[in-house]
Parts: sequence; structure tokens; C-alpha cells
Amino acid sequence: MKNIAIFASGSGTNAENIIRYFTDSEVVKVPLVLSNNRKVGVHERVNKLGIPSFVFSREEFVEGRAVLDKLAEYAIDFIVLAGFMNKISDALLQAFPSKIINIHPALLPKHGGKGMYGMHVHEAVVADGDTESGITIHYINENYDEGDIIFQATCPVAPTDTPEDVATKVHALEYAHYPQVIEKLLR
Ligand code: GAR
Repeated sequence: MKNIAIFASGSGTNAENIIRYFTDSEVVKVPLVLSNNRKVGVHERVNKLGIPSFVFSREEFVEGRAVLDKLAEYAIDFIVLAGFMNKISDALLQAFPSKIINIHPALLPKHGGKGMYGMHVHEAVVADGDTESGITIHYINENYDEGDIIFQATCPVAPTDTPEDVATKVHALEYAHYPQVIEKLLR
């Protein structure tokens, strides 16, 4: 059994989907969610499912110890970013080499990098007139959105699609694929 921690900064629909998927799993357990923001929806969402959420400050994250201690307390083997909007600290990267993955809501290497997250990504896809978008699941390294790609899936973008329409299609891909990819990696 592998213990995973989910890092999230927003509403946490992916975190909830992953927790639900692994509820009765013999492969993966999700004992802990972490966030850099106390005021976002992920807390209520996962606490309702009986999963504790831990909030850390920027200083605690950069310095590393408080987050690393919490991960050790829960015997975390692997880290899953699900809408986490901070750069991963060097301390965390060193403690979890090749054991941190992210989901990006577009087809990297397009629409990646600093400032490209959430709706900004879907706005860029529509502004560029792209005919498709999708998801990229990748390992984390020291540069934003540049780690090795594990999995991609695509969806069509119609000329009439708004960024919200693209977000809906991309979210559907995230829910369908992220838990399965995690399971495959950890099985
Ligand atoms: C997801 O679409 C995820 O791909 C994206 O944020 C959203 C979070 O939604 N992540 C990034 O943009 C990271 N660069 P959620 O909080 O409802 O899971």
C-alpha cells in the first residue's frame, strides 16, 4: 500500500475525485491533503470525506521542515499536485525525487510556465484559436511544467467554445484519467 498526499490550492474537485476513487483501494491510500491557502474550498470538500487538511505558510514551505515533518507523520510515499499553484520547494523535490506529479490543464509544452494555471490556460487556448486542448500529467522538476510527461489526453475545441467550455471539457478528462494514472504508477 502506498500513501499519497495531495497538494491543492483551490476548490479541490480533483482532490475529491482522487480520494473517492481510492476509497476502497488496496494499492493507494490518501491520508492527507495539504494547501497553501486556508480560505479555499478543498478543505471542506476533503474534510467531509474524513481526510484532514494541513495549511502551511510560504515560509514553512520554502524552509521545508513543517511540510516535510507532516509528510513523515503520515508516512507519505508519493505526492500528487491537483490544482496546486505554488512552485515546489527544493527541499520537497530533494525529499521526494521522481515522486511528485502534477496535472496541467493543457497539452504541454504549449500553454505552460509561470502564470499559466487554471482559467488563464483556457483563456490562452481560446485566444490562440487552438482546435484542441487536453491534459498533461507529468513529473515535477525544478522548472514550471517541464518535468517528464507521463500521460496526455485531448479534447476538441470548437470555434464557438468559451474558456469556460474548454475548462468543462478539460475537467472531465482530469476526472477520467488522473486517478487511473496514479494507480498505474503506484501498482
Ligand atoms: C485543474 O484544472 C488543474 O489542472 C489546474 O487547476 C485546476 C484545479 O481544479 N492546475 C493548474 O493549472 C496547475 N498549473 P480543482 O481545484 O477543482 O481540482
